[in-house]
Amino acid sequence: MASVTSKARIRIRDPTPADIPVIADIHFDAFGTNVAGKLLSPNGVTAEQKKRFAASLYPLPEPTIENGEMILKVVEIFPEGVSDDGAPGEVIAFAKWDLHRHPRTEEQWDVDIPMQTLETLGEGSNPEFHNAFLRGLHLKRKELAKGDPVLMLKILCTAPHRQRLGAGWALITWGTALADQLGIPTQLEASPPGYPLYKRAGYQPVGMHDLEVIKTFGGIREEGESFGENTVEDLGPLPEGVYRTSIMRRPARTKAE
Ligand SMILES: CC(C)(COP(=O)(O)OP(=O)(O)OC[C@H]1O[C@@H](n2cnc3c(N)ncnc32)[C@H](O)[C@@H]1OP(=O)(O)O)[C@@H](O)C(=O)NCCC(=O)NCCS
Repeated sequence: MASVTSKARIRIRDPTPADIPVIADIHFDAFGTNVAGKLLSPNGVTAEQKKRFAASLYPLPEPTIENGEMILKVVEIFPEGVSDDGAPGEVIAFAKWDLHRHPRTEEQWDVDIPMQTLETLGEGSNPEFHNAFLRGLHLKRKELAKGDPVLMLKILCTAPHRQRLGAGWALITWGTALADQLGIPTQLEASPPGYPLYKRAGYQPVGMHDLEVIKTFGGIREEGESFGENTVEDLGPLPEGVYRTSIMRRPARTKAE
C-alpha cells in the first residue's frame, strides 16, 4: 500500500454501518491519550464501552427538540497515487454535531443529565470523574447556548497515527460552512489540541471548564501533554494540575462577511 504523506487526498462522507466500529476505535484511541480519557477509563476501554458508544451513534437517532438532529461525518484518505473513485478509502477521522434549527423554550433546553454511577457506566469506569468532567461540560454547554438555534460540535477526533494531515480542519470547516448556510452560530468544547484549529476557524472562547485532575482524581500528565497552556492569554491563568476545556462559539455570519 502506498505510504501516507501530506499529499494524501481526503474526502468527507456520510458513514456506513461498516464504519461504526472503526469510528469507535478512533474515538477511544484519540481521546485515550490525554489525562481526561485515561481517567474516564482507568483500566482501559472495554469492548462493552465501545459497543455502547457505537450504538449511541448509529443508526442515527430520530431528531428530538431537546437533542436536535445528529449529524455524523467521516473523513477517509486516499494515499498519493490511489484513486478515490470506486473503492472506499481509509477512515481516519469523524465528527458528530447536534443541530438545533429552531429556538427552544427554557423547559426544552434547560435539561439536566442524570448523575452516572458504576451501575449505569459499567465495571471499570470512573463515575466521579465522569460526572465532574462530562456532566460539568454539559452544564456549561447548555448555560452558554441556551435556547437559540445552534450547531453544536459534540465530537471531533482523528486517529492518532493519522493526525496533522488536514482531517480535523476539513471537518471543522464542513461544520462552519453548514452553520453559515443556515445563518446560525456554532459552539463547541475545545480540548487543548483542538483550541488553535478552532480559533483559526473563527471560534472565540466564551467560557471554560477547569478541573483539578492530579490531586483530586489521581490523573497522570504525560510528558509534553498540554493542559490548556495555549489558552492562558485568552482565558487567564491555569493553576498547576488543572486541565482546561474551553467553551468556544463562532457567531452566525452574514453572506457579506
Ligand atoms: C484536535 C484533532 C481533532 C486535530 O485533528 P487533525 O486531523 O490532526 O487536524 P489537522 O491535521 O487538520 O490539523 C492539525 C495540525 O496539523 C497541521 N496540518 C494540517 N495539515 C498538515 C499537513 N499536510 N502537513 C503538516 N501539518 C499539517 C495543522 O495546521 C494543525 O496545526 P496546529 O496543531 O498548529 O493547529 C486531533 O489532534 C485529535 O483527535 N486530538 C485528540 C482528540 C481531541 O482532542 N479532539 C478535539 C476535541 S474538542
